[in-house]
Amino acid sequence: MNYTKSLQGKHLITTQDWGKGELDTVLGLAKEMKKDRFHHPLSKSLENKSFFMFFFNPSVRTRQSFEVAATELGGHALFLEPKSMRLKTATTAGETIEDATRVMSRYACGLGIRILEDKIPHYGAGEDLIREYAQYSDIPVVSMAHDKYHPCQGLADIISIQEHLGELRGKKTLLIWGHGALARSWCSVQEYLLIASRYGMSINLAYPEGYDLDPEVIEQTKKNCEQNSQEFNITNDVKEGYDGVNVVYSRNWMSPQAYRNNKLHKEEEIEKALKFKEWICNKEKMKLTNDALFTHPMPIDRGNEVTDEVASSSRSIIYDVAENRLHVQKAVMALTMGEY
Ligand code: CP
Repeated sequence: MNYTKSLQGKHLITTQDWGKGELDTVLGLAKEMKKDRFHHPLSKSLENKSFFMFFFNPSVRTRQSFEVAATELGGHALFLEPKSMRLKTATTAGETIEDATRVMSRYACGLGIRILEDKIPHYGAGEDLIREYAQYSDIPVVSMAHDKYHPCQGLADIISIQEHLGELRGKKTLLIWGHGALARSWCSVQEYLLIASRYGMSINLAYPEGYDLDPEVIEQTKKNCEQNSQEFNITNDVKEGYDGVNVVYSRNWMSPQAYRNNKLHKEEEIEKALKFKEWICNKEKMKLTNDALFTHPMPIDRGNEVTDEVASSSRSIIYDVAENRLHVQKAVMALTMGEY
């Protein structure tokens, strides 16, 4: 593969901001790096370089996979939290985002940011914050999941489905809401809608009334599907969307009423979500599909979003997806931050 330098310095806030050819380049390199994990020609592209990981919220996969990615590329990843900095907020004095970003740009080769859930006052605040960092940054800013998007998760979802199904154009996927006690952000599911539709999948989206996603993302997904001559169906029926699909993605997300008066009302969201007990992905519903793969970005709320039987079945690709976070992130970091 020819390693293009055209991606150097590019921010990754959502895959929708990148051209389809650019995404193909990342996925192509990720596949090579997975095959040749420690001896790939770009495997030292971050030598002597440091990647900053700024986490407002906890993480298992994202922190571990970015840290390992930096190490495997010959570099180093630093874990940063708001409490380790003195940033200005709506209620406290401190350093501005512009000053913090301009300084971090002098030290590091890239900056990852995660901001979700209770760390934002309203939907969209995380997106605004990450784009403000990007505005002042001389190094690539990568979303490690924010309220609106989770680009690295979307790349891992697609590469994993490709590994199992090959060409995705014309394949059908169901993205379905699952009940549960986590009141999750919309980032992973919205990214999935965008990237799956970019790759030519037809989409069934199913959720109970009152759990609409961001209208802007829905509109963009519609356009992506139209451009690929694929269908995009939305239903409030718990079973209909399973019919004949190749991939089922079951995941809880919060309702648009979750943020009110500049606050996340998490307990209320959980109480409301737990009432929809029939919204669980189980073996009976999977029988309606075309022997579908089951996917989920993890962590899974087993017994609520999906039964153990489905999550641990031979059609479940959850661990492949988690592993592929590492390979796609190595490719993103090498192409946007690396020297080669
Ligand atoms: N899928 C995902 O981002 O997992 P973590 O929240 O554990 O990082």
